[in-house]
Amino acid sequence: MKKIKAVILAAGKGTRMKSDLHKVLHKVYDRAIIDYVCDACEDADASEIYIITGYKAEQVEEHVKARRPNIKFCLQKEQLGTGHAVMQAEKYIDDDDLVVVINGDQPLISSQTIKSLVAFCDQGNYGGAVLSGIVDEPGSLGRVIRDNNGNLSRIVEKKDCDEFEEKVKEVNIGVYCFNGKLLKSSFSKLDDNNAQGEYYITDIPSHIKQAGYNFGVYTMPDMSEFQGVNSREELSIATETLLNKTRKMHMENGVTLIDPNNTYISLDAKIGKDTIIYPGTNIQGETIIGGNCIIGPNSNIIASNIGNNVTIEMSKVVESTIDDNCIIGPFAHLRPNTNISSKCKVGSYVETKNVNVGEGTKIPHFIYVGDADIGKNVEIACGTITANMNINWEKNRTTIKDNAFIGANSTLLAPVTVEEDAIIAAGSVINQDVPKKALAIARERQVIKHDYKTKK
Ligand code: UD1
Ligand code: MG
Repeated sequence: MKKIKAVILAAGKGTRMKSDLHKVLHKVYDRAIIDYVCDACEDADASEIYIITGYKAEQVEEHVKARRPNIKFCLQKEQLGTGHAVMQAEKYIDDDDLVVVINGDQPLISSQTIKSLVAFCDQGNYGGAVLSGIVDEPGSLGRVIRDNNGNLSRIVEKKDCDEFEEKVKEVNIGVYCFNGKLLKSSFSKLDDNNAQGEYYITDIPSHIKQAGYNFGVYTMPDMSEFQGVNSREELSIATETLLNKTRKMHMENGVTLIDPNNTYISLDAKIGKDTIIYPGTNIQGETIIGGNCIIGPNSNIIASNIGNNVTIEMSKVVESTIDDNCIIGPFAHLRPNTNISSKCKVGSYVETKNVNVGEGTKIPHFIYVGDADIGKNVEIACGTITANMNINWEKNRTTIKDNAFIGANSTLLAPVTVEEDAIIAAGSVINQDVPKKALAIARERQVIKHDYKTKK
């Protein structure tokens, strides 16, 4: 089996985006364009991936390295065109490789399409193959001109087209598969003798043909995968296309979307059947939601793990887990590393962070719990906070054990432990551990001054 190597072109300026952020770092819903392209290459079994960087190279490298430490980068110091870009990976290409080259601005191309292109190229014994698509308005795209056998004659950039070529509706998608040896030997033959004065990758097929090989054209079956992102408008079209795909997928899997156009779900999310999602809900990252849940309206759930029969109403949940049969919200904010066991209630205006909550515990309203371990069947009344930070900005943990009751408006000054079945009187400031089954009252005694008003 030949090795598949992928080269992603991402050195260009992306002028039409009018942005300080590199084009491939713009997000299609919840992930950067380059993340989708890397995923597609990985899933198409590319054993090595090289990204050509140039304009804002550090930005692109930093983003990719944080997520995929194995990917390597080749710097294209001057952006002299797509052909010049792929040349930068020359030293990594072996003669026997199948080299997939893909424009970094194509977020929707699936791994299946890349796999099909590679198989088509390999099985047809082509010197290389290009992915094409049929469009109504070829606009600025490169035209695919075929020979009498249906193979590629040449690719012509719009600015270099004659009258006949300009009308051709079969276009270059910007994804190619090359025989490694033939690709490398074409480099010395590239020139910039064209309307844009650039070294075009689209000239490489002609050089491979001159060496005596056929160059194949693989027409993509699903044109919805083709959305190059060169402008904000194209970015919004790519986003809408992706979201429509995920909405359809989840509905086919048995999830009810009350208003699909107003529901936003990541490609990475998984949702169980009979869950109902109300409008204005964003489900981002690798979120898993069980079955029979009611989510939304207006909720953001990011990279979290939600069980079955959970209700989350008008709330935000970030990098957290919620077990079965919980009720969250309205207006709860679960910050990272909140872990809620089953049958809990986290109600309105409750903020949590870095906290473990045992089964059946109720945290119903106006409460902050952070850096805490809370047991089973605990009741925390309104207005309570865990004061987790001391004056030296050090964070400490609060422990509240099973069946404890924390009265309204209490402050738990961490580090502190409330043992099992203990009771805290309302309005207490607790700075010492409270033993099992004890009652702690830590507030001023009430003073009554009789007839105070009449005496005055
Ligand atoms: C390119 C193709 C065109 C095709 C279209 C599909 C060429 C000459 N034309 O045009 O036939 O229909 O894609 O979307 O290839 N890049 C570099 N270094 C450079 C120049 C560009 O790395 O010196 C990168 C860009 O960052 C981008 C990709 O190559 O990710 C494509 O460049 P772009 O300028 O977007 O080419 P298109 O005009 O879209
Ligand atoms: Mg482009």
